[in-house]
Amino acid sequence: MSFHPIEQAPARLNRSELAVPGSQPQMFEKAAQSDVDVIFLDLEDAVAPDEKAQARKNIIKALNEIDWNTKTMSVRINGLDTHYMYRDVVDVVEQAGERLDLIMIPKVGTAADVYAVDMMVTQIEDAVGLKDRIGFEHIIETALGMQNITEIAGASKRNESLHFGVADYAAYTRARTTNIGGVNPSYSVLTDDMDGVRETHWGDMWHYALARMVVAARANGLRPIDGPFGDFQDPDGYKAAAHRAAVLGCEGKWAIHPSQIALANEVMSPSEAEITKAHRILEAMAEAEAAGKGAVSLDGRLIDYASIRQAEVLVEKAKQIAGA
Ligand code: GLV
Ligand code: MG
Repeated sequence: MSFHPIEQAPARLNRSELAVPGSQPQMFEKAAQSDVDVIFLDLEDAVAPDEKAQARKNIIKALNEIDWNTKTMSVRINGLDTHYMYRDVVDVVEQAGERLDLIMIPKVGTAADVYAVDMMVTQIEDAVGLKDRIGFEHIIETALGMQNITEIAGASKRNESLHFGVADYAAYTRARTTNIGGVNPSYSVLTDDMDGVRETHWGDMWHYALARMVVAARANGLRPIDGPFGDFQDPDGYKAAAHRAAVLGCEGKWAIHPSQIALANEVMSPSEAEITKAHRILEAMAEAEAAGKGAVSLDGRLIDYASIRQAEVLVEKAKQIAGA
């Protein structure tokens, strides 16, 4: 292990994260009663310019009055390049900061963006006398944000998670995409001729971005979270995307529709079989250690101290879910 310590963000369950437009208060109650882990009330792209002020009021009222139970509550503020953002932060934190766990910063581009919001939030928290520090979630969704992802990830002690905003990322990188978060048949490999047959293998055009984000997040103790999948009538497509993200190390995915919550929770939770296997690995390694060995085999496969770390992560996650 490096001598460099990695401080872990608070351990929040973040398997699913529901986007709820601040301009649609009739959706709030249903969201509060859902099985989602995190809710972000949106002031940004799901809200039209002349609805921003009212959406802000709706969110403040809802944070104060609705019983959100144990849900982690976040508000997506407007971008730092807009004139809405300062009032989003001032009004929401001043008037509803008590029930706000996180602020989601969209289109973050540089570490200085994070610093600016941190400075504002710190002043307001001090002035109002808030006990709990509000955390930050950053959406990596521009070319600039991806270029500066390392500095962004380490820019504030408030940082908790990085999110892959695939819709804007496609726009800002000018990627050729069809559905939000979906795949493109043009991103494929045509195999060489094998006995007269050439096959087309579809690829995942988001692989690099997601993998890059996972590294930046984990190297800074943050949660990597996959963003939206636009076609909410395609649960299989959603689950395939969520599985890809989970395999790379993401621990959650957005739901842009309530029907996607259960899918995210399912894919992002370890299965019974995985948990049982993790316990067996821990037991086998404890026995090996007692016998003075550093590596042993279980079911015909090598396990060593790295296997313990993986198993511990899994068992810890299972405990977190059980306690939710
Ligand atoms: C999310 O904000 C996205 O652009 O995908
Ligand atoms: Mg976006």
